[in-house]
This record gives sequence, structure tokens and C-alpha cells, in this order.
Amino acid sequence: MHILHTPEALIAYRKTVSGTIGLVPTMGALHAGHLSLVEHARDDNRHVITTIFVNPTQFGQGEDFAAYPRTLDADLQKLADAGVDAVFTPTPDNMYPQGYQTYVTVEHITQQLEGAMRPTHFRGVTTIVNKLFNLAQPTIAYFGQKDAQQVCVIRRMVRDLHIPTEIAIIPTAREADGLAMSSRNVYLSGEQRASAVCLSRGMMRASALYHEGERQPHRLLQAVADEIDNEPLAQIDYIAVNTARTLAPIAVIPDMDWGRGDMPNDDEPLLLSLTVRFGKTRLLDNTLLPHHLNTRAGLTQFLGAG
Ligand code: PAF
Repeated sequence: MHILHTPEALIAYRKTVSGTIGLVPTMGALHAGHLSLVEHARDDNRHVITTIFVNPTQFGQGEDFAAYPRTLDADLQKLADAGVDAVFTPTPDNMYPQGYQTYVTVEHITQQLEGAMRPTHFRGVTTIVNKLFNLAQPTIAYFGQKDAQQVCVIRRMVRDLHIPTEIAIIPTAREADGLAMSSRNVYLSGEQRASAVCLSRGMMRASALYHEGERQPHRLLQAVADEIDNEPLAQIDYIAVNTARTLAPIAVIPDMDWGRGDMPNDDEPLLLSLTVRFGKTRLLDNTLLPHHLNTRAGLTQFLGAG
């Protein structure tokens, strides 16, 4: 496995390989969710490049950039075992040298949900992803469903900038009790970890209601909120229903803004997403409604498809 530390080294490596390239961008602290992205990339492509870079520009003031878990040696071992061909692991100075001043901004769908809580986050994500695409020139790039808005923003950028890379969206990997895998789960205390299952429980409740025919957004959201409110350690940042294709808002807690009050139409797939705090740790989760769309094919067809 090639380990590349500088943009120049990745450009040089890229010139030596031909055929399809799968790119798996990560910030490291790899878990089974990342490895499932790698597995899909391995199955689909001749070569797989993974990047490990804790990207400073997507962290806001007071966020966890310094504390973000860094486990490079263990990550490299996992990637070698998974059959990755090359790992790109630059430093912040390599990616943003002195005098750096260029950013990529996707304007509208970055303003709500995570974007409303973390105003500079998506500008950092789209900038680094664009740079990684330029360096690796991937045929297909792989992203996890868990960061659903990130997927929608990246798909928008790819369409708007005519980037010749396909985006694959891989379903969220979960622990046995339903908690979505995340590098940030290590921040949770034992008690918080036990309570955190309320996110997936809440989504399952809403999903069951949807399948029974419930289409009132406030009833679906309230079902999730009730589950989370039962956990004293959990504090809701937001729970929202948006259309899956464009992220057009339908309803959100805590604003109690119910939009039109009804779903757009029965066939329009929806994204139910939520962010919940446990102490200083924010956990995200989401599901498409109807539930059977939470597959690679369903997500690729609908999530952020425009
Ligand atoms: O999802 C992530 O881990 C990051 O946002 C990404 C896409 C690697 C960009 O830094």
C-alpha cells in the first residue's frame, strides 16, 4: 500500500495508475462504516485510494478539531488489510499552505439543518472534497448516508461544477443496538452511550408510523421527540423532515414550523434527520422514508438527486 503525504506525491501516484479509481475520503479514526465504503470501492474499481485528513476548515470555532480522534497507525493497518492501494494523509500545511485563499461554496442547501448550526462547516467540506477530487481524479467517490446533508451538498457541487465523478452513497453502518457508527461515539460516557440508542429507536418509531400511513409531519416528528425526551441525558438540537431529493424543508423541531402541514405527495421520498446532544457530543442520524429506500440503490436514486 502506498502512503502519500503530499499533494505532489498523490498527483505523481495518480499518473502511474489507469482504469477505474474509487476514492474514499475520511478523517480517520476508522470504524466498520468506513470499511464498508472501502469494500464497495474495492468491488467497483480497479484501484482504491483512501484519504485520511482531519480537515481544519470544516470545524468551527470552539468545535472539536484538536480533540478529534487520531489513530493513524491502526487506520493504516485496517486499510492495508482491506486491500486499499494508496492512502493520502497530508498535513494541514500541505493542504492549506501560507497564503491560501480559495474556497468552494454551495449556496442554498448549506443554510439549513447542520449548516444552520455550523455556518462554516460545508464550505470547508466542499473545498477539501473538491481538492481531493482534483488530486485523485476518481471515477467514483464513496460517502456514508450518516452525513446525509453532506452527501446532498457534494452531489449539488458535482452537478454544478461538472465534476466527472460519480457519487456512491453507502447505507449507515450501525452497532448491534442500532446506534449509527461514528468516530465521535468514543466521546460518550458509558451512560450516554446507553442512552444514545434513543436516536435509532425514535427513527424506527417514525418509520413504523409512516408505514401505517401517517403522513402528518408533526406526528412523525413528535414520535421521534417523545422517544428522545424519555432520555434525561439527551438534548435535541433539531429533528426535521425534508424532501430527500432537494432537502426542501417540510417540518422541523424545535421551531414547530410545520411548513404546509402535509407531506408533498405520497410518492415523494423524505429524509427524516436528527441531531441530539449528549453533553458536548453531538450525534447525527437519519433515515429515508419509506424505509426500504435505505439501500445504496435507493439512496443513490433519491438522496440529493435534485
Ligand atoms: O465525512 C467526512 O469524514 C468528512 O466530512 C470528509 C468528507 C472526509 C471531508 O473532510
